Parts: sequence; C-alpha cells; structure tokens
Amino acid sequence: ELLNALMVATAYLLGSVPSAILVCHCMGISDPRQQGSRNPGASNVLRIGNRKAAFFTLLGDMGKGWCAVSLPQWLNLEPSTASWAALAVLIGHLYPLFARFHGGKGVATAVGICLALSPPLGIIQIILWGTLISIGRIASLASIGCALISPIIAWLVQPNLLMPVLLISLLLLTTHRENISKLIHGAESRF
Ligand code: G3P
Repeated sequence: ELLNALMVATAYLLGSVPSAILVCHCMGISDPRQQGSRNPGASNVLRIGNRKAAFFTLLGDMGKGWCAVSLPQWLNLEPSTASWAALAVLIGHLYPLFARFHGGKGVATAVGICLALSPPLGIIQIILWGTLISIGRIASLASIGCALISPIIAWLVQPNLLMPVLLISLLLLTTHRENISKLIHGAESRF
C-alpha cells in the first residue's frame, strides 16, 4: 500500500519537472512561457528556439511519462498502480508543483505514458502525429487528431486500455481549448 502511494506521488513529482523551461534555461533560450504560444512544450521550443532544444524537451517530457509508468511495472506492483501513476504523471505535467501549477499541454508526456502501457500503441501514436504534422503543418492539429484517434487505436491494440486512453484524450482536448478556438478562427500558428 505504502509502496503504491509512493509510486503515485513519485509520478506526480516526475510529471512536475518542466523539461521545456529547464532545457531553454540551460541552452540560453528565452522562457517558452513568454514567447510564441507561451506553452512550455516541445512544439513551442522548436518555434522560439531550435531543433536540438525541442528534441531534448520532447525526450524529457516523453521520458518522464515513460519512467513513471515503467517504474511500478518493473517493481511488479499491481497494474492499477501503473494506471494511477499514468494519471499522476500527466496531472504533474499539466499542474506542476515546480512551476506554480502552470504546466504544458501533455502531448509528449501522454505518448511516453502510452509507450510504457503498450509499446505498439505508443509507436502508432508517434507515426500518426508525424503523418498529421507533415500533412497539416500545425502542431496542435496533429495533437488533437491523435487525441481523437488514440482511443480507437487503443481499443484495437489492447482493449483494456480503452478507458485510460479515453481519459488521457479528454484531458488533452481540454488543454487544447485555446488551440481549438484559434483553429476554428484560422488564427493558429504554423511551424
Ligand atoms: O504539443 C503541444 C501542441 O499540441 C500545441 O502546442 O505550442 O502549438 O500551442 P502549441
């Protein structure tokens, strides 16, 4: 019990580590919360910084999602602990303890979570995001598309993941509220 609770708390703290802010700070790029879309995420770091910084941000955000879910799996804890850890790391990213509870939109972290829950699902999501971005050239559109399609993929690949993936998608759609309204008004920024 204590170990389960510890895993969930660790997941929240891991999620709270703001990769974009740290990477930009270390690489001498201005604060991603002050420029571009003002989102501390890999897409905005690419927009205001460079590919290398965006890559490290992506790696950090995906990595924390993957680690938080993999840790309880390695320790052979109940599968429900991994599910709670998945939710906790995502909440940590969206509402980080270390950044005044103003976090990112959760896409990279969600992919890291899904990679740990089901590698085929995570790999399909990466391919899907890549395909959507190469067609539309709008990061948020690719993310929203992925969030909408992922529950269907989860249902096909590993049906018991339908509910957790559906919950993650709903969270991602809420973090993209502003993007959705900009897309509707044709005001969304491209790469
Ligand atoms: O991964 C975040 C992406 O979906 C949207 O980011 O910076 O274009 O609002 P941004």
